[in-house]
Amino acid sequence: MSRKLLFALASFLFAGNLAHALDNGLAKTPPMGWNSWNKFACNVSEDLVRQAAESMVKTGMKDAGYQYIVIDDCWQVSRDGEGNIVADPVRFRSGIKALADYVHSLGLKMGIYSDAGSLTCGGRPGSRGHEFQDARQYARWGIDYLKFDWCNTSTQDAPSSYATMRDALADSGRPIVFSICEWGNAEPWLWGAGAGNLWRTTTDILDRWEGKGEKYGAGVMDIVDMQVGIEQYAGPGHWNDPDMLEVGNGGMTATEYRSHFSLWAMLAAPLMAGNDLDHMTPEIHDILTNKEVIAVDQDSLGLEGRRVHHSSDGQDIWVKPLDGHALAVLLLNRAARDETITVRWSELGLAADHSAAVRDLWEHKDLGAKTGEFSAAVPSHGVAMMVVKPGE
Ligand code: GLA
Repeated sequence: MSRKLLFALASFLFAGNLAHALDNGLAKTPPMGWNSWNKFACNVSEDLVRQAAESMVKTGMKDAGYQYIVIDDCWQVSRDGEGNIVADPVRFRSGIKALADYVHSLGLKMGIYSDAGSLTCGGRPGSRGHEFQDARQYARWGIDYLKFDWCNTSTQDAPSSYATMRDALADSGRPIVFSICEWGNAEPWLWGAGAGNLWRTTTDILDRWEGKGEKYGAGVMDIVDMQVGIEQYAGPGHWNDPDMLEVGNGGMTATEYRSHFSLWAMLAAPLMAGNDLDHMTPEIHDILTNKEVIAVDQDSLGLEGRRVHHSSDGQDIWVKPLDGHALAVLLLNRAARDETITVRWSELGLAADHSAAVRDLWEHKDLGAKTGEFSAAVPSHGVAMMVVKPGE
């Protein structure tokens, strides 16, 4: 098969569902930023958020592409006599507008959180019945990104509830990225592109390699398995969201965090760091700012990667087509011992006699031209991540 034909076939196989996509012109590549929840939960304040924004710049994360600083749950305490949402006056003493102005002054964007129901998951006032009023308030404050949760929604219908907030945001006159957080319950990949820019596909991520939580939550491997089969719904402006990053939060090894980050890049997932940016080790910093891996996530084609091989003894192969006729390839070793993993060109849709240049994105090294297949030694719970570029 000719290369041209191959890539036409790949584009067809990976083609997104573009019908009825929301076109607010935002999130043409998966959003990147930081969110307070995974590390700080309800312990949010303007000092914390200012510090996160400053660290984003100081650590080079801004230069690596991170942009949105998102305050998750618990910033809000009540509504005033006119129904306006009120930020915690102690923790956010200068108000959200001043905080957003500060974040903007650093060249970053400001995000906030609310909920489609009567109360947020943390028991704070939700947006139900106040959608247009809240959207106008966010716009006045200078908010650029809204995460909209799904707690306390009783018998509400998810597609209609998110459509209401979508319309409210559009009506506010400010471009605001809309992040649907409905945990995958009502299969948001089927309707999310018409309502928002990204939609959570699963329960909350836990800071562990694998295993479900007692009440809710799932480890990285469990979440990854839940992404298989919904790749075709992602594309520029509308992304599957396997939840925020746990990289650096302490529950996994550096090898496992490298795998977590690489998989999110292969999934064209939003990259929302969820750690304490002010106290990260050099190893964690190097993971979060690996520009070659980030480039895979942010590739302009916006095609989500697919798992093309899954063996019972724990060796997975993922592939993601990139702009410029190249492929990102991830070899993942889920087994308890180190393994050599081989990817055959046939698994990538390439002819066996074809020669392709291979570059290792964690070693930052060209490995030369390979024909037919490529093997790598992969540590337990680790990955090898490459860009494979077929020769002319
Ligand atoms: C839900 C969401 C989380 C977080 C919390 C906040 O669990 O899925 O990401 O926003 O609520 O209470």
